[in-house]
Amino acid sequence: MQFQKEKKKILIIDFGSQVTKLIARRIRDLGVYSEVITPIEIKSIKNFDLIKGIVLSGGPSSVTSRGFQSVPKNIFLKKIPILGICYGLQLISKLNGGKIKSSKKRREFGRASIFKKKNSLLTKNFFKSKMSVWMSHEDAVVKLPQNFSAIAYTKDSKLTIIENKKQKIYGVQFHPEVTHTDNGKQIFKNFLFSICKIKKNWSVVSQKKRLIKEIKNRVKKDRVICALSGGVDSSAVALLINKAIKKNLICIMVDTGLMRKNEFKYTYKAFKEKYKLNVKLINASKIFLKKLKNISDPEKKRKIIGNLFIKIFENEAKKYRNVKFLAQGTLYPDIIESKSSTGSKTSKIKSHHNVGGLPKKMNFKLIEPLKEFFKDEVRILGKSLGLSNDICNRHPFPGPGLAIRIIGNINKEKIRILQEADQIYVKELNKNKLYDKIWQAYAALLPFKTVGVMGDSRTYEYTCLIRAVTSEDGMTADYFNFPKEFLDKISNKIVNNVKGINRVVYDISSKPPSTIELE
Ligand code: XMP
Repeated sequence: MQFQKEKKKILIIDFGSQVTKLIARRIRDLGVYSEVITPIEIKSIKNFDLIKGIVLSGGPSSVTSRGFQSVPKNIFLKKIPILGICYGLQLISKLNGGKIKSSKKRREFGRASIFKKKNSLLTKNFFKSKMSVWMSHEDAVVKLPQNFSAIAYTKDSKLTIIENKKQKIYGVQFHPEVTHTDNGKQIFKNFLFSICKIKKNWSVVSQKKRLIKEIKNRVKKDRVICALSGGVDSSAVALLINKAIKKNLICIMVDTGLMRKNEFKYTYKAFKEKYKLNVKLINASKIFLKKLKNISDPEKKRKIIGNLFIKIFENEAKKYRNVKFLAQGTLYPDIIESKSSTGSKTSKIKSHHNVGGLPKKMNFKLIEPLKEFFKDEVRILGKSLGLSNDICNRHPFPGPGLAIRIIGNINKEKIRILQEADQIYVKELNKNKLYDKIWQAYAALLPFKTVGVMGDSRTYEYTCLIRAVTSEDGMTADYFNFPKEFLDKISNKIVNNVKGINRVVYDISSKPPSTIELE
């Protein structure tokens, strides 16, 4: 499915790589509209007039296997520039008479030094004296396809960049879309502006008017209900719909008692008074605490919270009449991930509970105005709707809240301890101008007590874990490298000010192999 049929665009065909959505982001960051579709969807496109370039993504399959995923061969005859990345390069080679071999000898994973062989439009200003690119492949092109030439090579693969200059078909074995590739953005810049010759045509803010009009036309005089969490996604959805239909939007905030300290009080007030939303706050903290009593299994916690949230929301929704629509903060990555190119489902690591993820059986039609956007784009949109920097730049916060940051059993006292520690941590991050450098930071409470000494007395209290990661989309993450002075300060402040904690540890694991949250 294409969202904007009337817009010039770059189409990305997704062969199932984990990082396909980064290709779309890189292109949009350069101001050009791009959409991701599956190899099956391209078969049904009749009119290619507005498609100014095609990118074939990477993917887990092999063109050497029978029934490999492919594209109709006639896309090479449409005079549309094509860029193949990893599997995309191998597919271009296979369909144009090249030879691909699967071999342990030729596989490359991680960084590889790249060397220039020949000038190309694709690599103008790309090469520097010493540079590396990110590789992740086992198959390699061993014989060039007809009418192609080699542009660059690495120690293990002779055909790292190839081109058919006349037909404007290009292939790179590495991943220019990941930040580990030096200067990868230049490859996209050259492809878009020198090869596809597409002009900048995309800014999120310019979409605002269209979205508001679309909501108005769709909802008409009916009512929309929206679960508001105070995060940037649901807040932007609420403001956008409010602009379109005003009082016919009903926002419901369910306070689970598992939010950060004072957060709900503050956001509720802001939504009501500053943003003039029609918002109702439901205090459900007692029932959440009751249902979570003595539950220590992370998956059980998640299920209890998810189900209870839905039940409370459903009860509230029933109190209003003429509600035909349910607003959700679904983002573009959710859409991309939900239509897997291979039909395979990646194994479930954690069952995510999104406050917006309400059940279909509620008999509402869905309104998902953010489904064309990435998170960063939603932040920009939010700002242009008047949402405060504080909400727009807020770190992601999981639906189950502090319940999955208090490891093991949950009780009121533990929630108090964690809220206080977390508040100190976040305050210090802001004070030291670190908050905006970090993708997500939080404090967690570990389920054991250890011995300490304060003054002349022995203490026996909980351990607080602090986590801070850099990431692009939460799929992978690196721990943040704090200066030692900051760690000293934070440890001191938490232990000295939070009754119940006598030890602070910093989590130095990346994702993978760890995850961002602990449960
Ligand atoms: P993990 O722990 O899977 O987290 O590495 C990746 C990102 O997802 C967030 N997260 C959630 N968000 N409901 C949400 O809305 C959830 O149940 C949930 N679990 C994890 C997490 O905070 C991180 O940003």
